[in-house]
Amino acid sequence: MQTVLVTGGAGFIGANFILLARQNNWFNIINVDKLTYASNLENLAELQNDTNYHFVQGDIDNVELVSYLLDKYQPNAIINFAAETHVDRSIFSPQTFIQTNVVGTFNLLEATRFYWQKLSLQNQQQFRFLHVSTDEVYGSLSTQEPAFREDTPYAPNSPYAASKAAADHFVRAYYHTYKLPTLTTNCSNNYGMRQFPEKLIPLTILNALDGKSLPIYGDGQNIRDWLYVIDHCEAIYLVIQQGKIGETYNIGGLNEQTNLTVVKKICAILDELIPKPNFSYSSLINFVPDRPGHDRRYAIDCSKIRRDLGWQPKENFDSGLRKTVQWYLDNSAWVNQVSSGAYQNWLKQNYENRK
Ligand code: NAD
Ligand code: TYD
Repeated sequence: MQTVLVTGGAGFIGANFILLARQNNWFNIINVDKLTYASNLENLAELQNDTNYHFVQGDIDNVELVSYLLDKYQPNAIINFAAETHVDRSIFSPQTFIQTNVVGTFNLLEATRFYWQKLSLQNQQQFRFLHVSTDEVYGSLSTQEPAFREDTPYAPNSPYAASKAAADHFVRAYYHTYKLPTLTTNCSNNYGMRQFPEKLIPLTILNALDGKSLPIYGDGQNIRDWLYVIDHCEAIYLVIQQGKIGETYNIGGLNEQTNLTVVKKICAILDELIPKPNFSYSSLINFVPDRPGHDRRYAIDCSKIRRDLGWQPKENFDSGLRKTVQWYLDNSAWVNQVSSGAYQNWLKQNYENRK
């Protein structure tokens, strides 16, 4: 079985990927995570007796540590999930986004290049570096414009998107310059279990359960293309197995929704699962001042990955959203753990001035 070094595997998508990979015996996994506020080792608690899974607390920025791990575990592939990921935080403090997403990815590429150049020719050819990126690098669409394709020019608008775009460019450059066998995936908004509640869907679920207002930026008509996290993980698995080196693959849910629709759907599910007399959760909806530079619409054309690798999203939005709400209801210990003082401080910083 192959060994894969996963970065950022204690976060939302990385943890779901690792759990799926171990359940299906896809790979041995080494997980390197800095354990920032967005991480949660509880996500991976069920792997504590799994001898094919190893966790190391560490920073992708640390070439020495990453080089040591690569030499020790001799992975056949690296999947880079590690990043600062929240647009609103990137507006308040862009510095950490540059440090992790740009400099960190660059240093990870450097450590990988040193390791890869020492491999035998056969192992060099089989090696893969998969960089997990976002559709936000392509900028914003009007309602009429066609969805983002792999050849859509980059036009990032937030510090988060700019930092991911810069990282994507370095990955591209390492393929072209050093022939490092890279792959890049640009995915739309993910939702599902284990997502940190700063993001729209879990924030809405947890605020609604607490009877707090449900903040909607601007007019609520911004559109995102939502993909269930397990569909994303399966796409990554396919790309690492069968993707053509040096290429990028767009991954999307074929599921464009306005933010207002998403929030109303969550309210309708909660009205059904936890009904309260003469009350609908949608009465908590509160329009608040917009996010600066808020991208209007994202949409992904994922025909390349469908055509070349046979992938398409399996989960439908209504059932995926219902499963997600149910997961947060069933995991109150997880919720209590992430709703710590630091999270409360973030809520104050981001929402207090919006009232
Ligand atoms: P997340 O914020 O939930 O988790 C990120 C993880 O990376 C955390 O565990 C954190 O501790 C770790 N990390 C941060 N800085 C690190 C560093 N310097 N070294 C090592 N680990 C570090 O993020 P996510 O939502 O799981 O996203 C994972 C990846 O997928 C990111 O690269 C993101 O840009 C990309 N992506 C996310 C979405 C989405 O909707 N969530 C969509 C498309 C692409
Ligand atoms: P988010 O989950 O932060 O993802 P991204 O900004 O990466 O797309 O936000 C999804 C959408 O929801 C985005 O258009 C911003 C909007 N939003 C709100 O309206 N209210 C909120 O409190 C949050 C966090 C997001």
